[in-house]
Amino acid sequence: MDVFSAMHNRQSARAYLAKPVSRADVEDILRHAAMAPSAINVQPWEYVIVYGVEKDRLVRRLQKSHEERKVSCGPGTAAPLPAIFKSRSRKASQAMQPKVAELGMKFNQFVEEGSCSFYGAPIAIIVTIDRLFPKIRYLDAGLGVAYLLLAAQAKGLATCPIGLITAYAEDIADVLDISQDKEIILGIALGYADPQSPINQFKTERENLDNIRIWYE
Ligand SMILES: Cc1cc2nc3c(=O)[nH]c(=O)nc-3n(C[C@H](O)[C@H](O)[C@H](O)COP(=O)(O)O)c2cc1C
Repeated sequence: MDVFSAMHNRQSARAYLAKPVSRADVEDILRHAAMAPSAINVQPWEYVIVYGVEKDRLVRRLQKSHEERKVSCGPGTAAPLPAIFKSRSRKASQAMQPKVAELGMKFNQFVEEGSCSFYGAPIAIIVTIDRLFPKIRYLDAGLGVAYLLLAAQAKGLATCPIGLITAYAEDIADVLDISQDKEIILGIALGYADPQSPINQFKTERENLDNIRIWYE
């Protein structure tokens, strides 16, 4: 698969087949993700791969914490989003809404509970960065994640980045014994997408190029 097809065909999957993912495939995806560029090649990212009974244990803990705290999904900004960003986010929710309804669920409940269970994917990846790095190095980690998502796509695997779980970072660190020196910045669901599930049958739009680029000439 060429890189353009991987970019255009990738979409977040929120329902997965029970089919296991081989350790060799996960390692191969990580090998590709590790090729991402980073400032002075520090490669600040680290990936914690969780599967099998450990993943079940993690999901149980996240579900319990969610039950107690009910953190909802959002952009994570202190101030309300300006209209342009709000409208993009609303469009994505509106595309997803009827599919969630087909599953007989409420939108927030689906996203929150689904995120906390990695949408049933066989593999959960926790992305961390050493706390000593300044915020700008999160960009490097983001590049690593982008490579990872595309590598998975190229291998016929599906992903969903899951930011919501960072609200429960302390629980995750506790279950997985992740050092306090590391900040948990993202979860990623990894597995084979269930093509039959309605929730995997919508595609989010992207902003018209005219609205996101400025040329000076
Ligand atoms: C940093 C980040 C955090 C995200 N967090 C969540 C999440 O917590 N739950 C979820 O269902 N999707 C999450 N997503 C997926 C986005 O909703 C999705 O990427 C976006 O709507 C575009 O859709 P696409 O990935 O299908 O192209 C996240 C994506 C990114 C990049």
